[in-house]
Amino acid sequence: MSEPMAQLTTPLDITSIRQQFPILQQTVNGYPLAYLDNAASTQKPLAVIETLKQYYEQDNANIHRGVHQLSQRATNQYEAARHTVQHFLNAADSREIVFTRGTTESINLVAQSYGLANIGKDDEIIISTLEHHSNIVPWQLLCEQVGATLRIIPIDDNGQLDLETYRTLINPRTKLVSVISTSNAIGVVTPLQTLIDMAHQHGVPVLIDAAQTVAHTAIDVQALDCEFLVFSGHKLFGPTGIGVLYAKAALLEAMPPYQSGGDMIQQVSFEKTTFNQVPHKFEAGTPNIAGVIGLAAAIDYVLSIGFAAIEFHEQELMQHLEAELNSIAGIQLIAPGVAKSGAISFYFPDIHAHDVGTILDQYGVAIRAGHHCTMPLMQRLSVAATVRASISVYTDYADIDQLVTALQQARSLFA
Ligand code: ALA
Repeated sequence: MSEPMAQLTTPLDITSIRQQFPILQQTVNGYPLAYLDNAASTQKPLAVIETLKQYYEQDNANIHRGVHQLSQRATNQYEAARHTVQHFLNAADSREIVFTRGTTESINLVAQSYGLANIGKDDEIIISTLEHHSNIVPWQLLCEQVGATLRIIPIDDNGQLDLETYRTLINPRTKLVSVISTSNAIGVVTPLQTLIDMAHQHGVPVLIDAAQTVAHTAIDVQALDCEFLVFSGHKLFGPTGIGVLYAKAALLEAMPPYQSGGDMIQQVSFEKTTFNQVPHKFEAGTPNIAGVIGLAAAIDYVLSIGFAAIEFHEQELMQHLEAELNSIAGIQLIAPGVAKSGAISFYFPDIHAHDVGTILDQYGVAIRAGHHCTMPLMQRLSVAATVRASISVYTDYADIDQLVTALQQARSLFA
């Protein structure tokens, strides 16, 4: 998915990167904040915070509607952001970028627009055992609506997709494959290009849930040749409530609207409505204008650091994190030794994950504990809940030391 990692001669200056994130400067329960819940949501750099402030202080107005200065400025920034996202994903055309509320809404849009129009009775949709609920439930609802069936790519005990079974699942009834690129719950990375190529050999379109990839690895939708790709702004240092659906232009042209209302129309009469051109056909109502502009600022920020440097830093941290966790007595790692990006999950068989999370919070360490919105995956792994530590570009070795010390405290408290 990404270009080969560049040889880095200068490591990232994490101290100066951390200074760009005001929220990281605080203490929690008397300890420096060790924010290791980045898979849930990333923190925001000054570049994003100041862009939002500037927008609301100087330019706030509705878009595509006003002839006045403020509306024109807001419209220009909103549409410029679409180009920023286009270049970020290397999409062929800015019309292929639809702004949504997030990954979840993007998947629901595809399910209820493309899905209802193209998937029918006895058809099949393939997803994987690794999926987040947001890439399971929209397809289940669609299957109930049209009489289609959900087929599941199994995994092994280390979270690796069973590609041989995947091969056998694809058949003439398969109408869509929808898979995650990096597991939010256990951090394992899926073999995207292989998944896409195998589906395409049978003419089956593919949707990629890239929510957990966008902040860690460069994405090139033309190289991948996926039909759809979705992500959320808030996991990429941008605001909440903004997300992206990338879809090939020809598909968007053919898809019926998802939601309807203002701005998505060309002409309305009481007898008939004609629709706006793509992507506006899919952006009904006043959108999250500030969110879109903030997302563009976040993308500019991440690109100013560069994915080669980010990957290098994060891979070193992940190796260190896994080695340190491994040294804690009684800990069980999920998918040990397997290539992971951004997150690692673990548990103590005799301590509930939520108790671990509560103790870690006492030591200023923020992690996520629970099922991570992946109940079927937890069931497959035979665990009720895990503790997940997830890193970002601003994570440093001190954060990991703090986590490990706090885990040792938790361990001894329950011993
Ligand atoms: N999907 C987010 C997570 O994994 C919320 O925590």
